[in-house]
Amino acid sequence: MANSTKTIVLTGGGGFLGTAMTKKLTSDGHRVAVVDRDLATATLSANGAYPNGLGRAYSCDVSDRDALVDLKKAVENDFGEVDVLICGAATKSDNFFEPFETFPLEDWDYVMRVNLTGPAMCAQVFGGPMAVRGNGAIVNILSIYGVAAPDQRIYDGALYEGHKINTPAIYSASKAGLWGLTKYLASYWGDQGVRVNAVTPGGIFSGQNDKFVDNYSARTMVGRMGEPHEIADAVAYLASDQSSYVTGQNLIVDGGLTAW
Ligand SMILES: NC(=O)c1ccc[n+]([C@@H]2O[C@H](COP(=O)([O-])OP(=O)(O)OC[C@H]3O[C@@H](n4cnc5c(N)ncnc54)[C@H](O)[C@@H]3O)[C@@H](O)[C@H]2O)c1
Repeated sequence: MANSTKTIVLTGGGGFLGTAMTKKLTSDGHRVAVVDRDLATATLSANGAYPNGLGRAYSCDVSDRDALVDLKKAVENDFGEVDVLICGAATKSDNFFEPFETFPLEDWDYVMRVNLTGPAMCAQVFGGPMAVRGNGAIVNILSIYGVAAPDQRIYDGALYEGHKINTPAIYSASKAGLWGLTKYLASYWGDQGVRVNAVTPGGIFSGQNDKFVDNYSARTMVGRMGEPHEIADAVAYLASDQSSYVTGQNLIVDGGLTAW
C-alpha cells in the first residue's frame, strides 16, 4: 500500500514526548492537530513542526466530551477529516506522590478520567467516524508500568522535587486499562478498517538525577534510558500505512527492560 499523508489528532501534543511526535509526524508530511489542555505548550510544539504550517495548536481537555466534539469540528474545519488519533495526554494530580494506603480517591478518579476515560471518549468522537468511513488508525500511549510493576529498588535515594520518582498505582492501573481498551477497540473495529495499537515507552531521559539514571539504565538490556525521538519513530510507524497489517499490538520501546 502506498504511504499517504494523514490528518492526525495528537493529544498531549504540547508535552515532552508530544513535541518529539509533532516534529517527526510533520517531517513525514502529516498534518498534526497538536492538542493540549495547555495552549501555550501546544503552540510551542506546533511552532516546532517542520515544514511550518503542518502543525496547528488546539486547547482541549480530553476529560471533557463536549470539548472533544468542538475540537473535532475545529480540526475538520482547518485540516479536513481526521485519519489518525494518537492519545498521549496523561496527568498527575495534586497528591500524586501520596502512599497507596492513603492515596485520595478524588485523585484516583481524576487521573483515571484523564488517562483512561479521556482516550475512550477520544476514540468515540474520532474513531467512530473512522469506522463509518472504513479507514483510520488509533495509537494509545501506555507505559511500561501498565505492563510490568515498577522495581521499587531503583527508586531508592532517587528524588525529584523532594519526592521519590516512582509513579503511583493509579498510573499503572490507568495505563493497564488503556491497553485493555486498545485490544478491545482493535477487535471491535477490526473489520471496519480502523487499526488500534499502542506504544509503550520505557523511561525517557529528561534530566533525572544521576542516581536514578544509573539505577534505571542498569535495568535495561541496552544500558541506557530512551530518547524522545525513539518513541516518536514507533508512533509514526503505527500511525502510517507502513503498519497496515498491524492491529491490537503493543510496541514496547524500552531498551529491553520488560523482556528479561
Ligand atoms: N516520559 C516518559 O519517560 C514516559 C514513559 C512512559 C510513558 N510515558 C507516557 O507518554 C505520554 C507523554 O508523556 P510525557 O513525558 O510527554 O508527559 P508530559 O507531562 O510532558 O506530557 C503530557 C501532556 O498531556 C497534557 N495533558 C494533561 N492532562 C490533559 C488533559 N486533561 N487534556 C489535554 N491534555 C492534557 C499536559 O498538559 C502535557 O502537555 C504520557 O501518556 C505518559 O504517560 C512517558
